[in-house]
Amino acid sequence: MKRHWQKQPLLVRQALPGVQPPVDRAGLARLAANEDVESRLVSQQDGGRWTLRQGPIAKLPAWSKPQWTLLVQGLDLHVDAAHDLLCRFRFVPEARLDDLMVSYASDGGGVGPHFDSYDVFLIQVAGKRHWRIGRLGVSTTGTLRDDVPLKVLADFEPEQDFVLEPGDMLYLPPGWAHDGVAVGGDCMTASVGFRSPWRGELANELLVRLTDDEEAPRGDRMYGDPSQAATREPGRIPEALTAFAREAVLKAASAPLALERALGEALTEPKPRVFFEPGEALPEGRGARLSPRSRMLYDAAHVFINGQSFRAGGRDATLMRRLADSRILSAADVARLSDGARDLLDQWAEDGWILPG
Ligand code: SIN
Ligand code: CO
Repeated sequence: MKRHWQKQPLLVRQALPGVQPPVDRAGLARLAANEDVESRLVSQQDGGRWTLRQGPIAKLPAWSKPQWTLLVQGLDLHVDAAHDLLCRFRFVPEARLDDLMVSYASDGGGVGPHFDSYDVFLIQVAGKRHWRIGRLGVSTTGTLRDDVPLKVLADFEPEQDFVLEPGDMLYLPPGWAHDGVAVGGDCMTASVGFRSPWRGELANELLVRLTDDEEAPRGDRMYGDPSQAATREPGRIPEALTAFAREAVLKAASAPLALERALGEALTEPKPRVFFEPGEALPEGRGARLSPRSRMLYDAAHVFINGQSFRAGGRDATLMRRLADSRILSAADVARLSDGARDLLDQWAEDGWILPG
């Protein structure tokens, strides 16, 4: 992290020796056909022509046909082995982790030279892929081709290249141009993706949450202007109203713990197409584990799970934080929860957010 994270690429040969593809190609094809799964098919024709098809994709090209690749996003939500692979990267705070994408490519398949705005760990899980990478700057300007339906660099000048075999891993910080081309068929690459909020988007999301309390916040007050004089400029916004607006926004953001709560809720909000299978209350004497689809985080005063926040202190907070950190709580730890926290756990189990451990 000190030397490479957000700074320099890193190639690690046999980072994950003996790694197995989290899914086989038939399983990936089934997922691509599912409308709850985000997938894309990128094919390259002779003469540098590219086509992009958004999923669901009912029928893939023949495995033996060269130069196509299928990308399946969020595999961790559907395949336990993919979630386990993503969890190997929890040395980065989970608030920054996004998902595990898997790409399958036939011989010569790839998505073309491009750059991403996020960090990525590219893990070769089957077959071989030839990666060429280079900084954006002098010779690779970042200009995109305007004749292709995906983001492909117009002038990619690679600085380094390597062929990755199963178990090898390449880390790229944001903004490094890269081009990965399958060498031979049956090439599978898993990408660990990250999330990094834009300041403006985050402010937007938090302000919505900070102000969507149903009841009027305590101490709320309506704008009043008893000293307003008659005006010849009825179009002009009164300065006092601008000052009132500024104070309103600052007040919403500075209420004690309000921002912390909104942030935790936003960071754990499930993605739009994520749903949970309802379950039953935890059986007596059992531990608990988080569903692979659950997002659970905490801060000094709260625990957050799937967009909801709870104040927690004392032993309950210690145990709930343990559940968030290790995604599992032993039967002995579950037994140490207060009655209130135990009821909460049962509710989460009924909602399908946790499963018997
Ligand atoms: C791929 O797996 O083909 C593309 C992954 C990436 O470039 O980020
Ligand atoms: Co990329």
